[in-house]
Order: sequence, then structure tokens, then C-alpha cells
Amino acid sequence: KKVVLAYSGGLDTSIILKWLQEEYGAEVVTFTADLGQGEELSPAREKALMLGIKPENIFIEDLREEFVRDYVFPMFRANTVYEGQYLLGTSIARPLISKAQIDIARKVGADAVCHGATGKGNDQVRFELSYYALEPNIRVIAPWREWKFKSREAMLDYAEKNQIPIAKDKRGEAPFSVDANLLHSSSEGKVLEDPAVEAPEYVHMRTISPEDAPDKPTIFTLDFEKGDPVAIDGQKLSPAALLAKLNELGHDNGVGRLDLVENRFVGMKSRGVYETPGGTILLGAHRGIESITLDRGAAHLKDELMPKYASLIYNGFWFSPEREMLQAAIDQSQAHVTGQVRVKLYKGNVTIVGRTSPYSLYDQELVTFEEGAVAYDHRDASGFIKLNALRLRVKANRDRRAGAP
Ligand code: ARG
Ligand code: SIN
Repeated sequence: KKVVLAYSGGLDTSIILKWLQEEYGAEVVTFTADLGQGEELSPAREKALMLGIKPENIFIEDLREEFVRDYVFPMFRANTVYEGQYLLGTSIARPLISKAQIDIARKVGADAVCHGATGKGNDQVRFELSYYALEPNIRVIAPWREWKFKSREAMLDYAEKNQIPIAKDKRGEAPFSVDANLLHSSSEGKVLEDPAVEAPEYVHMRTISPEDAPDKPTIFTLDFEKGDPVAIDGQKLSPAALLAKLNELGHDNGVGRLDLVENRFVGMKSRGVYETPGGTILLGAHRGIESITLDRGAAHLKDELMPKYASLIYNGFWFSPEREMLQAAIDQSQAHVTGQVRVKLYKGNVTIVGRTSPYSLYDQELVTFEEGAVAYDHRDASGFIKLNALRLRVKANRDRRAGAP
């Protein structure tokens, strides 16, 4: 039996690796993806070798460009936020990891795939819905839902017994759980579990605090083509390089922190601390360029569809026909979302201070308070308002007759 394991090289997935070998007698294939989490990946290879994985069964892939180009940017075309605030940094990474894992399973002829998400969260759902959508008959192993470890202690004992290296401080346990990639870092659990208590400063890893940010603003331009950012201050950058640069700018100005209690798909509320510096800038900038290039009807319809689209991504339905339908509509709307915005960052704030586009719908001649003219006749507004007021007047008259409050 062959199993492809999504392997980070960390303690938990190392325990899973061993457990798969023992419990299932499985030949384990490890897959480690670089999504820009900012960690060296070579230790993952070393560790896998040490745990008895054959060199030809170790897969390490740099997915950063694909992640930003085919997942992050398409999502940002919709100005996507879950429950009004969460930029979906973890949610959007899961479908890509799953897809790459399934590709490897096919390549090596594996019968099963395995992930290290717990049985209480969203991630198990996202991984598994993606696996099944791409490979309907794949066998899925979710150790957290199967094994008999009752406590962290029991897991650590198992690790010790099996010569899995445990970082010195790990016996004292990590103070919270982290998931990170090029788009965001997310911290949950332990010291963050009480939503009444402010998150300690040391939880943050991607941003300085706005209080410590410089007293001078940072100003730069961002160029968009068909809804996607392509250049910073006129310099063309690849998707991953561009997002990395925005992260840097955001970091230095304390941009993109979020402390949120959200509703998990499985039914519980959870509290998380997110840092999405580049994504927060991108969201503001994208809305800025859309503000002059999108027609009102298109813009408002996008805003109505967005929460639905966000829920699909949050709940793990990236590879679903309804997500693809919405994506087609969103992508179509971006045909003229091309141009430049000027962005100002200051102590945690993102302000769009200028926008230009060859496809601008903004008509200065039309809105000016000075004597304009052309297609607009002030007198047309009288009838426009009167007809819109008609039903309000009918109702007001009825209420007056009825003596209603
Ligand atoms: N709550 C976030 C989501 O469902 C993040 C989950 C993973 N984060 C973590 N620290 N383990 O998308
Ligand atoms: C986990 O439970 O593995 C992380 C949190 C989540 O998936 O929501």
C-alpha cells in the first residue's frame, strides 16, 4: 500500500509519517510544498530520509508562482473576504496542495493520500473535498480522526519512542498553531483561545505593530492588467515576486493585522490572528482600480456574489461547478480593469490616493460642479426623482389616511 502524505517536516506530520508506516504498513511518499511559508524545505528532505523514506519517494515542489497566479489573484479579482474581514489565506492554499498531492499520487501509483489536519477544523474538509473532486475513488487517511492518542503527551511519547526529533521547547509545547504561506500567516489556539483576551504581540510574525510604524507614509504605484497586479512603481514583477514585495511594504507599515472570531464550516466558532500585509494592500488597490473602470451594475453584482464566492472557498468548494461559474463571471468583469493606482501606507492604513486608466468610466466633464453640459440635463433629474418618489408618496398618503404611527 502506497500513501502520499502532505508533509511539512514538522513534528506532527513526522508522527503521522511513522504512524502510517506502523499502523498501515504503508510505503510512505512525502510531499512538501513551498507556498512561501518562509521556511527552509531542505530539513523536510533530511527528516524524511531519516525516517526511512526512499529518496525517490520524497517530493518537494516550489508552488509559489502557481499559488499566486492561479489561486490568489483569481480570488482577489472578486475582492473576496469571508465574514466581512478574513482574506482566506489558509483556505485558498488547500486546493492547490491537494491538487499537487493528487498529481503525485497518480505519478507514483499510490492508492491513498493523507493530511495532518485535525478532525475539528475546516482544513480536513478543504483537503478532502479537493481530493475527491479531482480523484473520485481516492482513499483518504486522516490520522487525527483515527489514531488513539488521547493527549499531546501521548503523541510526544510516541515521537520519542520512534526517534522522531523533538525541538527542545516542544516538550513545553508550541504556544499556538500556525499556518503560513505567501498570502498570510494565521495563528490559532492555546494563548489565543480566549476571545476576551488581546493577542500578545509575539504572536505576530509578518508585520510590525502600527504603533511602531514610521511617522512618514510610504507611497508607491501599482499597475493592474485585467484585474491582476503586474507592476510596482513601474517595475514588472512575477505574481509571487509582486506579492512578496507588497508583503514587505505592508510589514514595514504595520498593515494587514486582523483579530477575528469566525464561524467554521463544521459549526464551531474559533478565534484567529491573521496577518495579510500584501493582500490587504491588494484588496484596497484592486477596489481602487475597479472604482473607475467598472460599471455600477457590474460592480454591485460582483459585491452581491462575493459573499457566496467567499463561502465556497472557505468551505472547501474551490473545485466545484458553482465556484467555476462564479469565477467565469468575475473574470469576465475584469476585461477593462487595467490602469494604475497610487497607494499610501501609513501606520496600518491603506489609502488609495490616485487612480488612472485608459478605460476609465470616470467623466470629469459629467460630474463637475462647474458648468459642464454634454449628456446631462439638470431638468431630467426632476422627473427621475418624481417617479422614484411616487410609491413613497402613495404610501405616505395611505399612512396619513389610516392614522398610522
Ligand atoms: N481559520 C483559518 C481557516 O480556516 C485558518 C486555519 C489554519 N490555521 C492554523 N493556525 N492552523 O482558514
Ligand atoms: C486544523 O484543525 O487542522 C486547523 C484549523 C482548521 O482547519 O480550521
